[in-house]
Amino acid sequence: FVEVHYVSIQKLGDIPVIKGDFHSLPNTVQKWIAQMVQLCTPRGVYICDGSEEEADMVTHKLLERGTLTKLEKYENNYICWTDPRDVARVESKTFIVTDEKYASVPHSREGANCVLGIWMSPAEMKKELDDRLPGCMAGRMLYVIPFSMGPIGSPLSKIGVQVTDSNYVLLSMRIMTRVSSEIWSHLKHDEEFVKCLHSMGCPRPHAQKVVNNWPCNPEKTLIVHFPDIRKVISYGSGYGGNSLLGKKCFALRIAGRIAYDEGWFAEHMLIMSITNPKGEEKFVAASFPSACGKTNLAMLMPTMPGYTIKCVGDDIAWMRFDKETGELRAINPEAGFFGVAPGTNMKTNPNAMLTCMKNSIFTNVGETADGGFFWEGLEDETPAGTEILSWTGERYKLGEDKTKKSSHPNARFCCPARQCPIIHSKWEDPAGVPISAIIFGGRRPEGVPLVIEAFDWKHGVFLASQLKSETTAAAEHTGKQVMHDPFAMRPFVGYNFGRYIQHWLDFEKDPKNKLPKIFHVNWFRLDENKKFLWPGFGDNIRVLDWIIRRTNGEDIADVSPVGLLPKKGSINLDGLSVDWDKLLSIPKDYWLSDIEETYKWLDDQMGDDLPQEIRAQIEKQKQRLAET
Ligand code: GTP
Ligand code: MN
Ligand code: MN
Repeated sequence: FVEVHYVSIQKLGDIPVIKGDFHSLPNTVQKWIAQMVQLCTPRGVYICDGSEEEADMVTHKLLERGTLTKLEKYENNYICWTDPRDVARVESKTFIVTDEKYASVPHSREGANCVLGIWMSPAEMKKELDDRLPGCMAGRMLYVIPFSMGPIGSPLSKIGVQVTDSNYVLLSMRIMTRVSSEIWSHLKHDEEFVKCLHSMGCPRPHAQKVVNNWPCNPEKTLIVHFPDIRKVISYGSGYGGNSLLGKKCFALRIAGRIAYDEGWFAEHMLIMSITNPKGEEKFVAASFPSACGKTNLAMLMPTMPGYTIKCVGDDIAWMRFDKETGELRAINPEAGFFGVAPGTNMKTNPNAMLTCMKNSIFTNVGETADGGFFWEGLEDETPAGTEILSWTGERYKLGEDKTKKSSHPNARFCCPARQCPIIHSKWEDPAGVPISAIIFGGRRPEGVPLVIEAFDWKHGVFLASQLKSETTAAAEHTGKQVMHDPFAMRPFVGYNFGRYIQHWLDFEKDPKNKLPKIFHVNWFRLDENKKFLWPGFGDNIRVLDWIIRRTNGEDIADVSPVGLLPKKGSINLDGLSVDWDKLLSIPKDYWLSDIEETYKWLDDQMGDDLPQEIRAQIEKQKQRLAET
């Protein structure tokens, strides 16, 4: 039997609705879509329902066009190469638009270049958008994607609708969020959804040559947030962080603002559980800047016997203190992992490898002659001599020319979280999981010990405010420089950063809130030969174990000027040869100059918006350092 779908021929102006019943959508959605259609003038409107047939149809189209290549070695896996100019988030083109400037960005000191968000006035932004949006989808299909961040229908979840002219974006959104026509019935009130408009900015006929079948518009790329009206407009880029609007744009920048208004957190954090040999399970959330180890930590394979790790999420956490119990409860609003591919292998992160064996999309990685994926880090798992086709279209044999690179350093896998072998049974629990510890960290080649515990909540907020990290390929910054990245949220806060820090401090004011302990970790300290002092990856369980024992109140910490440090020998190092003293030392000169630099930076960046409490914490740290 051939199933016949009745397709209603509806029109918006003279633009046909190719699929879906436009008039059955909630009124506010209809109104907004009609406006978008009128503005972007696509050749047709396609209302997505999240079905498998839909995915098959779109995948087929992309294969035909050559945007995707099927990886024959696996089930339903595809490779995609972008225009080489569109490979990472572009922080310099990411804007927050509010009537009042200081709703978006802090009062930086005069002459300081504010890096905590870029504001533009609505009038100025209107000009920019008027120059880009009219007719931007000419000759293309407009896909309407209804999606939920968090389990559909959960009270903690939020709904978005993204319109896009990219079917790569549609396929990726289906993995990263929950796309379903069920969403419509949950939109009971007006204005209850985040409006997300995305266009590659390449109307037909093309004004420029299209590279790799990846139409984009790097010169005119703009990622714009309107937190007051819960709206995102992204133009010119198809790279995940710029185009999968449920992720950084909605789940961090817009949700962060909602969280500020409503009294909860939207953070750049993984969520995981650790079960010790006694069978006791604890959940932690951890925040590191992009490409600094969240996905790896969230799925780690413990090298200590008897421990079990389960993953709840690898990138974003929405958390709130329970009104009754005071527990901090966290959900992962996403449905997939969009992880850094290079460096991922069966040794460093076998669980990520196993997650992406099917139903996944690989962007800017290499392809082996037998239809497999390849990236830097898989050398030991791929036979020497294997023929590789690099993401830039170069062919070479593995091992013959060490200068050849198969993948872009920010190449990504995009895979469904439910396929993760260690996904937690509660990962979709609408009530979330209780968080016992919050961990911050970054790439700190010198001076910063393996782990520090904050003295208390205020000190923990200060630890997070002074977070720094070496830059990575996840955004457009070049070279390896240690940059400030407070809370690992520098690129992701959708409102005045000073208020964001104050928001964190304010949670202490409600005595009902059970504040988790706060920690800072550093897997990246180097010795004098520039070698990592700490093996990292699966051995990070040793530090997690210490952290959990601290949350249980074990007496295994000593006071230092910068926080509580592990008592010598209190981290299990069985079977490792690491230099404890080097790994945990706190060089006084380093910290003395660091606190001066940090103070100047925070004050320059936030001016009078820097909370008084942070100034007080800085003074205390200076004093403690002076007294040693
Ligand atoms: P985003 O997804 O961009 O937010 O980044 P992420 O925080 O999830 O980073 P990810 O886990 O993908 O790690 C990125 C890089 O850090 C990879 O190159 C890893 O190999 C490296 N890395 C992760 N964990 C460790 C570790 O414990 N030690 C060392 N030395 N490197 C690590
Ligand atoms: Mn991230
Ligand atoms: Mn990640």
